[in-house]
Amino acid sequence: MTFRKRTVEDVDPRGKRVLVRVDFNVPLNDAGAVADDTRIRAALPTIRVLLKGGAAIGLVSHLGRPAGRDPKLSLAPIAKRLGELLGRAVPLLPDSVGPEMKKAVRALAPGGIVLLENVRFHPEEEKNDPAFARELAEGFDIYVNDAFGTAHRAHASTEGVAHVLPAYAGLLLKKELEALGGILEDPAKPFLAIIGGAKVSTKMDVLRSLVPRVDALAIGGGMANTFLLARGLSVGRSLAEPDRVTEARLVTDDVEGNGKELLLPVDVLAAPSADADGAAGAAVYEVDEVPAHLAIVDIGPRTIDRYAQVIRRAKTIFWNGPVGVFEVPAFASGTRQVARLLAESGAVTVVGGGESVQAVEEAGLADKMTHVSTGGGAALELIEGKTLPGVAAIPDR
Ligand code: 3PG
Repeated sequence: MTFRKRTVEDVDPRGKRVLVRVDFNVPLNDAGAVADDTRIRAALPTIRVLLKGGAAIGLVSHLGRPAGRDPKLSLAPIAKRLGELLGRAVPLLPDSVGPEMKKAVRALAPGGIVLLENVRFHPEEEKNDPAFARELAEGFDIYVNDAFGTAHRAHASTEGVAHVLPAYAGLLLKKELEALGGILEDPAKPFLAIIGGAKVSTKMDVLRSLVPRVDALAIGGGMANTFLLARGLSVGRSLAEPDRVTEARLVTDDVEGNGKELLLPVDVLAAPSADADGAAGAAVYEVDEVPAHLAIVDIGPRTIDRYAQVIRRAKTIFWNGPVGVFEVPAFASGTRQVARLLAESGAVTVVGGGESVQAVEEAGLADKMTHVSTGGGAALELIEGKTLPGVAAIPDR
């Protein structure tokens, strides 16, 4: 697909002070250190290209959802990790706006870098307050948005500031939009989408957007149970949304009525409960023989074999959401096997959002995929066909 937005590659950053919005909203461990630095590493290409080009950078990000200033959500551990990755100290400024920030930005020499403190310490950020956006912009010459994971938020640092400073897309933002947008616009065929996760209600818009584009649709996870109900099967004590059965039936008709393949589980792992305590009593059942006292917790081996056949034929595969109760190791086999099958396939493989990304990373298979998105909600909204405010605010070339 052709990328139409202005990017960092379209500007000579030499001697410029650049405000760079990154998504450093990363998990921290109990000791308060960065537990997963994927998003920090993903921002390095843009940071490096700007520093090499002779810019001075102020990085701005949120962390968590603080209500006012909260030391537990300081970006200090992130400054430390970023410093380790860049091989140089990255000073953390005590605030994202105000006189001290302005002074520090003014003092930055070409090649200099600072990280601003959590921008959500100011409630004006999430309100997309124009005066706050102007304050953020003070002292900077241009704005680069590389925060794909936050591009679905119309906040001051993601949207508002793009109307104050000349705005450009960062390299990560570009890569994400090309990969995710590419599967919507121009997927190599056959195109298979594997959609899992607990609830069908949160994935309806994704399904509605994908169904007309795919050649095959595989549905797993808790949401598959609602589709099984729609087929008239009983799912025992499984998680399901009976009030969504009509919608599931419409999706089913839409896929099958257009001669496309719908892969629902043909066999399942079912257990007395969907937590670790249920593992001892878990067994594989045909999908029409699930006992009334058990809950479906994963797809079964015959279902995986069917997945394998379709994956082998596909030229493009989009995967979002685990196909079982992935957080319980005994029920994670289906999800892990999907990750492995994708890694072994010769297809363009795009993994978007949350736990499917975690599954791919835990299996050490991330670098075997064509693209693993850093966005959760943002990736889903893009696939749903929604406009992302952080992207819309960047002018076209
Ligand atoms: C995310 O992790 O999905 C983004 O950083 C956005 O965070 P938010 O949902 O708190 O806006």
